[in-house]
Amino acid sequence: MSIQLIVASPEPHFCDFVREQLPLTPNSEMVSEHEDIGPNLPVRIQSDLNLHPWAAVLLDISSDRALGLRTLEQMSQSVSGIYVILSDGQCSEEFLLQAMRLGATDFLRQPLKRSEFSEAMARLEQHVQRIHRQGRQIGRMYSFVGVKGGVGTTSVAVNFAALCARQNKSTVLLDLDTDSGDTACQLGIRHPYSLADVVENLEDLDQSMLEGFLARDALGFSVLCAPTDLDKSRMIDEHHLRAVGRFLIEHYDVVIVDGSRALDGLLLSCLELSEFIFLLLTEEFAAVRNAQIYLSSLARAGYGHEVVKVLVNRHEKRGPFHVSLDQVRQTLGAPPFWVFPNSYEDAMQAVHNARPVVIRGRSELGRSFREFARKLGIESPPEAAKGRK
Ligand SMILES: Nc1ncnc2c1ncn2[C@@H]1O[C@H](COP(=O)(O)OP(=O)(O)OP(=O)(O)O)[C@@H](O)[C@H]1O
Ligand SMILES: [Mg+2]
Repeated sequence: MSIQLIVASPEPHFCDFVREQLPLTPNSEMVSEHEDIGPNLPVRIQSDLNLHPWAAVLLDISSDRALGLRTLEQMSQSVSGIYVILSDGQCSEEFLLQAMRLGATDFLRQPLKRSEFSEAMARLEQHVQRIHRQGRQIGRMYSFVGVKGGVGTTSVAVNFAALCARQNKSTVLLDLDTDSGDTACQLGIRHPYSLADVVENLEDLDQSMLEGFLARDALGFSVLCAPTDLDKSRMIDEHHLRAVGRFLIEHYDVVIVDGSRALDGLLLSCLELSEFIFLLLTEEFAAVRNAQIYLSSLARAGYGHEVVKVLVNRHEKRGPFHVSLDQVRQTLGAPPFWVFPNSYEDAMQAVHNARPVVIRGRSELGRSFREFARKLGIESPPEAAKGRK
């Protein structure tokens, strides 16, 4: 049986060492590498484990021991039987005991030594041969965050939800915009229950109770509406949202967060569970400036370029008062992940009909949404789509 490793380390020399030494162990491969050791690392690793359920995790915590140990604890709590090889310069008896209690299976001292690495691989090989683990599946959460009001966060989140549902993925859209509840409005939904009802019933929550609280869109996805009652929305805190988020990713293939709100504790607790954070802006000066501030705040919270993807909405080729795409790239330090065209008529018609743009076959904006989803592996390639009728 082969050995598969997921390596998480911000240190290039650590990964170089593994890349050099791993081929010396027969039938072994590195299946994923994470250089961002942010708070959502456990979720990204869980997503790797969906693809490679037999993989072990090699976690270098030397750059931030406290965060590393928290990551270890979260991974071992959420993935039963996970094999984690922890690595650090510190190896006092007390520390090793703590690491073991938090779920580490093995330990590699730094600086790494060839003989110790190959011994660790031999132990892992024995483990893989011995244990027959069951496959595990956990959904993916994608958060859409607008750098200012009106940049199109809800529109993009709603269209993405429709495309995920079209691919037969069980999909739920979580509206975090507790000030306006725009998602329901864009979809023409009037529903008596909201996130507040889920939070009030967290202790007894199960799948059927949750489904009772969700609104269902005709396109096949569910919506967890934002509370419209201000008093109710104020009682929701970060712990609630973390618990709701976990519940959702355990029960749905895709969870989409409409984060049309400030980068506050509620949103941050969803980002912890998100595989990608999509930062939405337009080419207005104020939006680009805000995007810069958001990117720095996210970087300080541990979310780097591997996770945060910039989406430019309402792009116009010739806009005299707009910041050009090139200037956006220069200001933000990286090209946007995706650029959606400005398509006023399509967008207004979608709002008017309370139906996402993507259901209208030939619109330019709809095509752009589909290509965006395809880039994320959600939509089928154009050839397959053509063959369908
Ligand atoms: N690509 C686009 N082209 C033209 N208009 C668009 C586009 N995307 C969104 N819009 C329009 O912009 C307006 C704001 O969109 P939306 O409500 O999705 O933004 P938002 O960022 O969620 O706003 P809020 O801050 O109120 O939550 C809507 O009228 C929508 O139809
Ligand atoms: Mg919105």
